[in-house]
Amino acid sequence: MIPVTYPITDPPRIMDPLIEAARKALANAHVPYSEYRVGAALETIDGAVYTGCNIENANYSNSLHAEEVALAEAVKNGHREFDRLAVSSGAYDGVTPCGMCRQTLAEFADDDLPVICDEGGGEFTEYTLGELLPNTISEGTLDAAER
Ligand code: THU
Ligand code: ZN
Repeated sequence: MIPVTYPITDPPRIMDPLIEAARKALANAHVPYSEYRVGAALETIDGAVYTGCNIENANYSNSLHAEEVALAEAVKNGHREFDRLAVSSGAYDGVTPCGMCRQTLAEFADDDLPVICDEGGGEFTEYTLGELLPNTISEGTLDAAER
């Protein structure tokens, strides 16, 4: 499937609340090292929305990504099934979840999860998680282990 880039409305009148939530989450990003803010908003199957921002660390590899913070928040609150994910960066550059976040999301989301990436100017590119991460590692993968 080819990812679709589309304007929500031109000019944007009614913003998708999930994208608004991802943009709002940017405000709390802790990014003294990269200065690259990311916000993520995850919608559960019952319509709840959990958000996350990136939280960097002076020991760089300890940094948390917006998508994993949003997912952790949702799972912590008892949600394990999701309808959509929106991601926005302060640069409004259509950022997509990194490889690690794709795998983290795949633990709880199916291949058809829409991932809406904010291109700015009222434009969005929509992927599915399966497009972004084919051949995910899943519980089934571990069946091959000699246990
Ligand atoms: N970042 C995220 O929060 N999510 C992603 O999946 C892409 C990268 C953050 C990590 C780091 O704080 C900054 O963006 C630059 O890589
Ligand atoms: Zn990531």
